Amino acid sequence: MTHARQQHTRHPVQVVAHRGASEEAPEHTLAAYKKAIEDGADALECDVRLTADGHLVCVHDRRVNRTSNGRGAVSALELSDLAGLDFGSWKTREAREAWHARDEEPDWEFRPEDREETSVLTLERLLELVADAGRRVELAVETKHPTRWAGQVEERLLLLLKRFGLDAPASAAESPVRIMSFSARSLHRVRAASPLLPTVYLMQFVSPRLRDGRLPAGVRIAGPSMRIVRNHPSYVERLKRAGHQVHVWTVNEPEDVALCVELGVDAIITNRPRAVLRQLGR
Ligand code: G3P
Ligand code: CA
Repeated sequence: MTHARQQHTRHPVQVVAHRGASEEAPEHTLAAYKKAIEDGADALECDVRLTADGHLVCVHDRRVNRTSNGRGAVSALELSDLAGLDFGSWKTREAREAWHARDEEPDWEFRPEDREETSVLTLERLLELVADAGRRVELAVETKHPTRWAGQVEERLLLLLKRFGLDAPASAAESPVRIMSFSARSLHRVRAASPLLPTVYLMQFVSPRLRDGRLPAGVRIAGPSMRIVRNHPSYVERLKRAGHQVHVWTVNEPEDVALCVELGVDAIITNRPRAVLRQLGR
């Protein structure tokens, strides 16, 4: 057993639905988030971007080309432009292509209940969904390309959270919302305005100055990729020893889930919340 795999005090691992239940429903749609809540996910992950007219929408890519029937950058489109697009059909198309590549006949199609389920999702609508969930469902909001907007993403985000009474929690532990980013500057802006809102520093690689388990000033949660965890499990140990929580993305394979549990990570961010919860015996 390696040093990193020594016994940890057992605590519940939070299961976070990455872009909603995005394996079974089109990512970042109301359908995907409803499914994740139904499946029992503890929290929902979403990426947010600003439209040309200043609305925060849940879209991962810079452009809408991959996940809708439209074209163009989110930042160049207004909410009314996005509202006319279909963010669902690509999922069925993608599944069909995968089946055909395996020389099999498709037997699956994504069928939304109504048009709203596959329309562009605003962060406001997602916050309403969470508020109406009937149980505690946490929300991990990732600010995408916040440097381009020089603070506007965070400003709009905090204003919206304020409307839902979520911008100033009594303590970080009690906050049902946390803000994630690959940008330390974006997290700094959030903390400057809302010091108790938890922030998560996302990492695709570990920069040399953070190898000892340190995080940017004020950040208490590390968000390493599954690849980092797989290749450097002792890094999780270092982060934990430094007193940080560890939230790992994107954890879809059963052996990766098992490794995360063994290492004592605090949250597993996955496209398959139902399968992960089942593996965890929940
Ligand atoms: O949860 C963090 C993870 O979502 C970061 O990567 O590209 O999926 O936003 P990405
Ligand atoms: Ca994300």
